[in-house]
Amino acid sequence: MITVHTIKELRQHVKAARLAGRDIGFVPTMGNLHAGHISLIDRSTADGCYTVSSIFVNPLQFNDKSDLSRYPRTLPEDQQKLEAANCDLLFAPNVEEMYPAGQDEQSIVHVPVVSEGLCGGSRPGHFDGVSTVVTKLFNQVLPDKAYFGEKDFQQVAVIRKMVNDLCMPIDIIPVPTARAADGLALSSRNGYLSEEERELAPGLHKTLLEIADALNRRENLEQIVLQAQERLNNRGFKTDYLEIRLADNLSQLTDNALQSGEYANSAVVILGAAFLGSARLIDNIQVTLNQAFE
Ligand code: PAF
Repeated sequence: MITVHTIKELRQHVKAARLAGRDIGFVPTMGNLHAGHISLIDRSTADGCYTVSSIFVNPLQFNDKSDLSRYPRTLPEDQQKLEAANCDLLFAPNVEEMYPAGQDEQSIVHVPVVSEGLCGGSRPGHFDGVSTVVTKLFNQVLPDKAYFGEKDFQQVAVIRKMVNDLCMPIDIIPVPTARAADGLALSSRNGYLSEEERELAPGLHKTLLEIADALNRRENLEQIVLQAQERLNNRGFKTDYLEIRLADNLSQLTDNALQSGEYANSAVVILGAAFLGSARLIDNIQVTLNQAFE
C-alpha cells in the first residue's frame, strides 16, 4: 500500500489506476480503524476496485473542540491494518492541505432536511462539516463507488441525498454495522469507555431491540419511546435521543398510522444516541414491522 499526503500525489496514483482500467472504490475515514472500517475496505476489494482510503480528522465536523483534540490519532497502526486488508492507496492529508484558505473561508455544502434533528440536532453544524469534507474528498479521489458504515445511518442518508441532488456520478454503498459479540456497535469512541462502562455499553443496542419488539406489538408510539428512554437511563446511560423514523427518508412516524397498520412492511429505523461516562455512543437497527432483522 502506498501512503500519500498531498492531493497532487493522490491524483497521480488514482489516474494511473484508472488508465489501467480499474474502477476506484473509496473508503473515507477519520482513522483509529477497527473491524467495521476494514469491512468497508473488504467490500471495495471484493467489488474488484482499486481501493483508496483516507484518514483525516476533519475539524469542520466537530462542534465541540475538546472532542476534536482528544479524537484518537493512530496512523502507524492504521497503515498496518489497511495494508493487511489489501487497501491500495491511503490518502492522509493534514489540515492545511484540506483547508488551505482556512476553515472560516471554506465554501460549505449544506444538505437540508435529512441533516436536521437526530445527530444534526445534538451536534449543530456537524453534517455541514461532513458533507463539505466528503464533497472535497470525492472531488480529490473521483471514485466510482464510496463505502459508508450503516452505524452512521443519518450520515449515509445525508451523503446519498447530496450525491443525488448535486448529480455526483458515485455509487454510495452502505455496509451493515459491525458489532462485538455482545451487540455493541464497533466505534472509535468505544475506546473512551472504562472497563465498567464497556460492560454496560451493549445496553444501547438492547434498548433498540426492545423498541422493535414494542413496535411489533403496536404499543403507543410515544409510550414506547418514553419507556425505552427510562430503561436506557436505568442502564447507566444519559439518553441524548431515541427515535423511530422511516428508513427511506428519515421522516417521522405517527401513532395513528402505526395503529392503523399503515407501516406494515415499511422499513423503519430505530436510532439512538446516549452518553456513557464521557463517551457519546450512537447505534441504530432497521426493522420491517412484524419482522425484526436484528
Ligand atoms: O464517518 C466518518 O468517519 C466521517 O464522518 C467521514 C465520513 C470520514 C467524514 O469526515
